[in-house]
Amino acid sequence: MCGIFGAISDNHNILPTLLNGLEQLEYRGYDSAGIAFISNGRTERIRAVGRVENLRNEASRYQGSIAIGHTRWATHGGVSVENAHPHQSHHLMIVHNGIIDAYEEHKKRLIQKGYAFESETDTEVLAHLLHEATLNNADLISAVKQVIATVTGNYALLVMDQNDPTSLIATAQGCPLILGLKDDTTFIASDIAAIIPETNRLIYLEQGDCVIMQAGNIAYFSNQAEQVLSPIAISEKIQISDLSIEKLDIGHYTHFMLKEIFEQPHVIEKTALKAITQQFDPELFGEKAVTLFPQVKHIQILACGTSYFAGMVAKYWIESIAKIPTHVEISSEYRYREVLIEDGTMIVTISQSGETLDTIEAKKHAEENGAFASLAICNVKESVLPRTSDCRLYTEAGIEVGVASTKAFTTQLTALFILANALAKSQGKMDETTLSKHLQMLRELPAMIAQSFNCQEIASQWGTLLLNAKSTLYLGRGIHFPIAAEGALKLKEISYIHAESYPAGELKHGPLALVDDQMPIIALLPHDDLFEKVRANLHEVLARKGKLFIITDSKVPLDDLKGAHIMHVPEVSCALSPILLTIPVQLIAYYAALVRGEDIDKPRNLAKSLTVE
Ligand code: F6R
Repeated sequence: MCGIFGAISDNHNILPTLLNGLEQLEYRGYDSAGIAFISNGRTERIRAVGRVENLRNEASRYQGSIAIGHTRWATHGGVSVENAHPHQSHHLMIVHNGIIDAYEEHKKRLIQKGYAFESETDTEVLAHLLHEATLNNADLISAVKQVIATVTGNYALLVMDQNDPTSLIATAQGCPLILGLKDDTTFIASDIAAIIPETNRLIYLEQGDCVIMQAGNIAYFSNQAEQVLSPIAISEKIQISDLSIEKLDIGHYTHFMLKEIFEQPHVIEKTALKAITQQFDPELFGEKAVTLFPQVKHIQILACGTSYFAGMVAKYWIESIAKIPTHVEISSEYRYREVLIEDGTMIVTISQSGETLDTIEAKKHAEENGAFASLAICNVKESVLPRTSDCRLYTEAGIEVGVASTKAFTTQLTALFILANALAKSQGKMDETTLSKHLQMLRELPAMIAQSFNCQEIASQWGTLLLNAKSTLYLGRGIHFPIAAEGALKLKEISYIHAESYPAGELKHGPLALVDDQMPIIALLPHDDLFEKVRANLHEVLARKGKLFIITDSKVPLDDLKGAHIMHVPEVSCALSPILLTIPVQLIAYYAALVRGEDIDKPRNLAKSLTVE
């Protein structure tokens, strides 16, 4: 959430590049945006509520070769120009992601010292703290180090000083920052997407690192060390990214969400590739997995939102394939309760971003209460969760720009299926036949997903039928209930139609009262062991005149369910059916939002990657 981008160049106008980069970051927050730069020796600041686009007119009047920028998702303080970054204290301008703990205390003290505040943000507190520190430090980098030694929180920070138009200073304290190095220009961003159009030579800052950036040059202080790193040490940190600008492009698609839905066969194949060649070898999860996996007696999964639904599916796989008792909990609930952790419990965190604060804190809570090992399933390389876990498997979804998660979810499911099999293998609980059968399922999965795109036309018709719906109900049972829940989340996120999900067998215990001839009900009816049970539940709905939409792979005629809309998907009767049934629910949500004219890639009030509570 929130995006930082800054650049310093040797005498050429960097402002158009800054605005383009900020637009790439908008998916991380888009309530408001702002930039600050030095032009003809003067600091200028342009801020606006809404999109980066709203800065372009005014910015086009200036030139500047040093600049910082920010896209905001409001946390401390509402959506207003005053609360938009950059924030100023005298000659300093700063942009910031994350949170500063107990910032009100600092604010009280600073007000007593005569500092005036124009915003409600913790960032402005940080700006004044920095200015205060410059008064008793010889240079800005020493002032920055003093401030980061006194404040706590998870944050990333970028500072521009009018008194030194040749440098920017950046530090990462638990939130991501990436340096981009190009001949005469140095970039910094909270996300690779802003930098890749300019350069693929990157350095990922580690917790506590500070950098002085100059045009085509950097001074790098590792974890607040006094000495700068040598050029050799810096060159060892440089990574060459294989991400290309084309991959960030929307191509011929109308929305990134649709593009990302259609990328799923490819990214699932990439995620499964090594697992197939290494036949579910525990080492896929890192060296430590080889010794840790055989000791696992219980699993506690922690995640939020869509990632939590992936965890709910994983429980079925881990318990049925690896026979390890598994609990799944929402991170924001788990972190604040007394937990009882059984001996031999491994924590599994699931996160697209790897920086969701609730999941990071829930993991710490579990570790403090006795979990013996941790494992992260994550999409963003080197982010907090995989970096701080004993074992990890990266999903290969690539950058997910649409705020509503699609390919990140199905690659998480793929990784979790691999985990269930790797655990079973390491504990000697899987025979050769099952192992080969599961490997074959993984091999076939991308093609099956590609086939399931056949439902696109019907999904689009159903989207239109949902146009005036006020509320919807999603039903599923067993391992498919989490997919119903994911379908409901997708629909409400991007179309703003209220959607609730229920295990179909629970209908009669309450929600059936909601059903009338206005209520669309979207039901997953795969041909599995619960088929007849769900079919009976759907009769209960029809008897109350509910508008029924059924997604099924059944070859059994469903003539008894008269009046229901029926979508046939390819036969999915295998352990991986939850992944296949995700495609129709993603497409239904997409088309429902499309027909309502909503901003699909940037739904209101939301942001990608939640680094605050
Ligand atoms: C929904 C969505 C969110 C995220 C949740 C967790 O489409 O994207 O519900 O799944 O905020 O984020 P990560 O996976 O980054 O921890």
